[in-house]
Amino acid sequence: MRTRPLKVALLGCGVVGSEVARIMTTHADDLAARIGAPVELAGVAVRRPAKVRAGIDPALVTTDATALVKRGDIDVVVEVIGGIEPARTLITTALEHGASVVSANKALLAQDGAALHAAAEEHGKDLYYEAAVAGAIPLIRPLRESLAGDKVNRVLGIVNGTTNFILDKMDSTGAGYQEALDEATALGYAEADPTADVEGFDAAAKAAILAGIAFHTRVRLDDVHREGMTEVTAADFRSAKRMGCTIKLLAICERAEDGASVTARVHPAMIPLGHPLASVRGAYNAVFVESDAAGQLMFYGPGAGGAPTASAVLGDLVAVCRNLLSGTTGPGESAYAALPVSPMGDVVTRYHISLDVADKPGVLAQVATVFAEHGVSIDTVRQQGKDGEASLVVVTHRAFDASLSGTVEALRKLDTVRGVASIMRVEGE
Ligand code: NDP
Ligand code: HSE
Repeated sequence: MRTRPLKVALLGCGVVGSEVARIMTTHADDLAARIGAPVELAGVAVRRPAKVRAGIDPALVTTDATALVKRGDIDVVVEVIGGIEPARTLITTALEHGASVVSANKALLAQDGAALHAAAEEHGKDLYYEAAVAGAIPLIRPLRESLAGDKVNRVLGIVNGTTNFILDKMDSTGAGYQEALDEATALGYAEADPTADVEGFDAAAKAAILAGIAFHTRVRLDDVHREGMTEVTAADFRSAKRMGCTIKLLAICERAEDGASVTARVHPAMIPLGHPLASVRGAYNAVFVESDAAGQLMFYGPGAGGAPTASAVLGDLVAVCRNLLSGTTGPGESAYAALPVSPMGDVVTRYHISLDVADKPGVLAQVATVFAEHGVSIDTVRQQGKDGEASLVVVTHRAFDASLSGTVEALRKLDTVRGVASIMRVEGE
């Protein structure tokens, strides 16, 4: 074993960074044996240097992250600050100064992954980010390496722990949205700005990363159709239950049937209670990968939180250190397929639409006509009347999203339709 240690700079020492530092210290001997050299924490960059950080030598703490990554003797930079800047500049500077990089930063990778991969390749260094998607669950490496010989057609799952925690609480305990969000934040699951979680930006960033790797195509955050979960109500959960479903925020990346394009989307959806995703509780994540030869694979585990995320970071750290010692690098970006990313209107799925309508003769026929005119076939209709008004729940067969949007627009114009209470896609059947 080499006795000279590999030096690691830790950028950020919050929920994830503090656990990375803890495991590096407590598992130091095992990590050294697995890598073939000891790893030394050479510096820790933070914003508030005076904060007491258990297990961290105060002499290592600095607010000058730039100077730390420019030192020249750093072998690996672990970026767990989050956000776009200064993380992007720090990662680029680290690569320029000869360090490989491990990051958990999905927002940055979804936005600038191509440029960061190019910088890593230019400088002959690694850029690893297993922790950026689905916390502890090994997903990036299986997609990039284990399935490299197969053809992935679909990646579908729950990739945000905070929103799954909130939806699960709302469904199982009747908790209010804000109460559940506050609890998820206190447990360290939420992003610095939880809007990123609840409005679906975090899941969309993960979908972009997964789609890019799965389909060997550059997919950016802006390519992902995104709807958050802030408008999911207790009434939606009641409707879902009546259909034998629950509601989850799903990320779905699909190759078109003709293989010529891909789509990526994030939105709340009803899924049958019998589907494995329905039983994913709390901050757990689960992702299905469907490929030509392997068939259907399911990845499941803790999707957020300090220690689970640190597990993925440490796995990358070991891989990157091994590569450094053997003078090699791992696989970089693979975007050779360069498939176009189609808009949401091209997606085909089923819908659950809840309408408030006038309870009088001919209304049902009028509503059904609008669906037919837009080529959307109805599967079931349920009507409940009360005081001259009625609630009408329509579940469709599979239809284009664009056709459904046209249907809803036309329904809103009918005098007899008082309002569209909710529209939810139905997946997993
Ligand atoms: P935290 O907010 O808990 O920690 C951020 C850390 O970065 C803090 O230590 C903070 O310093 C430091 N920091 C902020 N700005 C600067 C700066 N300009 N220079 C130096 N240090 C700075 O975030 P998390 O640990 O939760 O998340 C980190 C990353 O990991 C993010 O990219 C996140 O998306 C990702 N991630 C998080 C998961 C989770 O469950 N929390 C799961 C998977 C990925 P100080 O301590 O002084 O405030
Ligand atoms: N905020 C993210 C989540 C952290 O809740 O899933 C893990 O990426």
